[in-house]
Amino acid sequence: MAIIYCEQRKMFYLESKDVTYAFYINKIGFPEHLYYGKRVGHDALNYAYSGGATSHRAYIPEVNISYNDLPAEAPFYGNGDFREPMVQIMDGKGDRLIQLVYESHEILPVKPALPGMPSLRGGETLKLTLKDMTRELRVILYYTVYEDASAIVRHTEIVNSGTESVDLLRAYSFCLDLPRNDYELITLHGAWARECEMERVPMHHGVMAVDSKRGSSSATNNPFMAVVSPHTDEFHGEAYGCNLVWSGSYVLKAEAGIGGASRILGGINDFDFRWKLCAGETFCTPEAVLVYSSEGLNKMSQSFHDLYRGYLIPEKHVYSPRPVVINNWEGTYFDFDNERLMAIVDAVRGTGIDTFVLDDGWFGARNHAKAGLGDWVVNTEKLKGGLKTIIDYVHNAGLKFGLWFEPEMVNPDSDLYRAHPDWAIHCPGHEPMLSRTQMVLDLTRAEVRDYLVDAVSAILDTHDIDYVKWDSNRALTENFSLGLNADCQQEFHTRWTLGLYDIFERIINSHPDIFFEGCSSGGARFDAGMLYYFPQIWTSDDTDAYMRTRIQYGTSLAYPLSSLSCHVSICPNHQTGRTTPFATRAAIAHLGATGYELDTARMIAEEIAAIPAQVEAYHAMEELILCGDSYRLESTMEGNYFAEMVVAKDRSRAVLTVFRALVMANAETKRVYPVGLEENAVYRIPELEIELHGSTIMNVGLVPKFVREDFTAAVFTFEKI
Ligand code: GLA
Repeated sequence: MAIIYCEQRKMFYLESKDVTYAFYINKIGFPEHLYYGKRVGHDALNYAYSGGATSHRAYIPEVNISYNDLPAEAPFYGNGDFREPMVQIMDGKGDRLIQLVYESHEILPVKPALPGMPSLRGGETLKLTLKDMTRELRVILYYTVYEDASAIVRHTEIVNSGTESVDLLRAYSFCLDLPRNDYELITLHGAWARECEMERVPMHHGVMAVDSKRGSSSATNNPFMAVVSPHTDEFHGEAYGCNLVWSGSYVLKAEAGIGGASRILGGINDFDFRWKLCAGETFCTPEAVLVYSSEGLNKMSQSFHDLYRGYLIPEKHVYSPRPVVINNWEGTYFDFDNERLMAIVDAVRGTGIDTFVLDDGWFGARNHAKAGLGDWVVNTEKLKGGLKTIIDYVHNAGLKFGLWFEPEMVNPDSDLYRAHPDWAIHCPGHEPMLSRTQMVLDLTRAEVRDYLVDAVSAILDTHDIDYVKWDSNRALTENFSLGLNADCQQEFHTRWTLGLYDIFERIINSHPDIFFEGCSSGGARFDAGMLYYFPQIWTSDDTDAYMRTRIQYGTSLAYPLSSLSCHVSICPNHQTGRTTPFATRAAIAHLGATGYELDTARMIAEEIAAIPAQVEAYHAMEELILCGDSYRLESTMEGNYFAEMVVAKDRSRAVLTVFRALVMANAETKRVYPVGLEENAVYRIPELEIELHGSTIMNVGLVPKFVREDFTAAVFTFEKI
């Protein structure tokens, strides 16, 4: 049993792989947090926690409680806890006080799926019901444990069982009170073409936060935060990783309090949020994934990866070989016809590339970014004979066919907008803001969602399509719906994200044989919510090999390598203007779901000739990418080198990729220490034509031999014999 309740102490012990999470119900019925960290015994943790008192000092005497001292499971507002609350409400009288106490609990063998939004599968789950002492309002906390991942997954439900509506002003998914406040915070900030840059700062007194107000999780800040000890590195030290299973506006906060402790919490962003919870209604928050590692950041990431592969990403695809695509976007942009596309297909015939993806520009008047978005009708002037001609050509060449969509958006210059201008998000009386000359459709409205499901399905159901790239290229503004009452307008962002999940459910579930890849101007919606629907996501529009070492390093903090879509593109690179060797571009793109994105007509013969061996090398290591443990060894965010190793779970095989950014004359020797191998096993390293013990490889290290050229990579394979 992984969830144990001790009636005598009123204490809950939750155990996932290697970790314990504990809290108890104190004398006034308040759930007090006690511990989250490395596995401990079922001792009287409140005794230890309070320094030897028989109970926590904060509830003695009972009449003089200071909630500000209590480590809380679900802190609320107005009771003297001056830290950040998890739940905030206001009733019809303007009364904003709540006092939540234990009412009941249940241990469920399997966590119920969250209604209308993505969630992790399975897992024994504690359902803890707290009741407001003065109203018929309940806050239900869910905690899910996993035998094979060092994580606790939480979410919250707020149930209005009274007869009057209340307004939710804040409804976060979780709160985790930690015993110290000398941690450091690692977050992933970024922008278009430079997503997931790691930033590490000491925690300071007061509140620190990352958030998105954009309506999507965004490239500005990924919905991820790691709270780590000051000495934590990739292999040592404590790390608490928090990640939200939510693709909309969110916030994650860390607050160092006056008492030497700290509070981590978050969920749907409460900026511009107010939800009217009518009598009898329930509000469900998204899930928060809380991973703990006592062995540094690599172990934290491996736990996220195992959890997401085992319980989040669609089971059908998660461990299956991924399509190796050639995508025409950087090759042609909007300027293509059948002949140009067929030439790309011809060039890659027989190379091992197995899927051709037709990107933006195949529909409506979409000859540039200014028109046509929303009109999911094939542009037969451009594609003579319709999509069928190119699809048949691709299939006859032995490749699968993929197609790009951006269903959530509309250009004002489109038939859809002309027919339904009110479907695009706008606030009457204000000029709507365009971005990339487009507007966002109001997915809070059922008729808009129905239209999109029908329009996309009409293409998918009448063509032989194997793969879809689902894009989304702007943030939400105006945040107003003609379909919502004035007092519900601040529900807009949340309802829009739920509307998005509704169309994912309806389109993706009804096309089980199509492989769906996520995308949002590159990695602007790379989050765990998306991974529930999309086994892989386009990591960044920046395909420059050097930038990719940084972007992929950061993204892998929370997300498995198999979910990182990575392409080899043409040089000079379209985003950075930099030229890197073709082999390096492939070596870095192989550290994810690999593919190509270029105009084959502009490739030199040597590059085309190199593709079959590259694809073969990728297939040889693909199982490691899909199922293995990845280790980050060196980062170009810190120095001249990037190194990453991927090791099979049974440690029978591994691949190490080392990248050097710049040549330095008479440089110091670079030694890399592989990890994760079996000490006593002997491994063949074909690239060095040598066999060595794992212990030798890991302790003596390897010295990569780079050619005298900037941006080179060396790849080593380890095969247990
Ligand atoms: C976004 C995507 C690109 C491409 C274009 C098409 O920028 O990230 O990969 O699909 O849109 O407009």
